[in-house]
Amino acid sequence: MQNFISVNDVDDVNMLVEKAMMYKANPFMHRNLGANKRIGLLFLNPSLRTRLSTRIAANNLGMEAVVFNIDKEGWAIEFEEGAVMNGTTVEHIKDAAPTLGMYFDILCIRSFPSLKNREEDYAETVINQFIKYAGVPIVSLESATLHPLQSLTDLMTVKETFAEKRKPKIVLTWAPHVKALPQCVANSFAQWINAWGEADFVITHPAGYELDPSFTNGGTILTSQEQALKEADFVYVKNWSSYTDYGNVSGDDASWMLTNKKMAATNNAKVMHCLPVRRNVELSDEILDGVNSLVTKQAGNRVWAAQAVLSEILKPM
Ligand code: CP
Repeated sequence: MQNFISVNDVDDVNMLVEKAMMYKANPFMHRNLGANKRIGLLFLNPSLRTRLSTRIAANNLGMEAVVFNIDKEGWAIEFEEGAVMNGTTVEHIKDAAPTLGMYFDILCIRSFPSLKNREEDYAETVINQFIKYAGVPIVSLESATLHPLQSLTDLMTVKETFAEKRKPKIVLTWAPHVKALPQCVANSFAQWINAWGEADFVITHPAGYELDPSFTNGGTILTSQEQALKEADFVYVKNWSSYTDYGNVSGDDASWMLTNKKMAATNNAKVMHCLPVRRNVELSDEILDGVNSLVTKQAGNRVWAAQAVLSEILKPM
């Protein structure tokens, strides 16, 4: 594996999930794979799980991990080609990325979308510029449109939870929130579940919250949450802002918050969320604290997903 930006960088999704499960069972089995290698974890935006789980994963493989909050501790970076840098940016990505490539064997980057300009965000300018100029493998810690380490974790959590010999019904449901959030987690989850191809996959959201069809094609899309939840085995809860009316939210739609009453229509479904979650806005206490919540298990599995990906990148080095 050269870079890890989306599911398209993965040859065999099931094998990668199995590798993550293998590391969960035996975290230190490849203790020396990353010996004498250094990984840079660059954050342009906040993080709890991604920052810590990826660092732990790198350490489990024997790598030295350096975390750099580039938005707070670095120079303001310019990403526009040919920019006349007489404003607030101090350093061009053409200069910063190759410098970082000299210091690190692998670079991991978190960068959220602006939610102001869809074309710019969906062009993935930030992560693509790092790929173009750093000269070392690049791993997405969540980009403008996707969150592949989260999705690998989510698929691993589904596979280790579901023991039946049939396709699970997985429902991705929109949930209310107090602010406009990126579409990354939802796009990425849809992309991975579709690429996996072993689920009955349903996406439900209010009209106006349609996602980019290039990620959702393959899933059934319903605007009735009640209908979507019927016989679900897994319910993945996530808010996202509008893709069509880009970055906007149209009312709070509080009625979309998942409750135990709504869950009665499911097949005793497990509930998933990537965290962080706004309790009693996006998801109710009764669901999050209930026995069917997988959210902590998901967060724990972030280590093994990251370790599987880093291992695949280290292997040919
Ligand atoms: N789920 C997730 O990416 O969490 P963090 O934003 O805390 O890293």
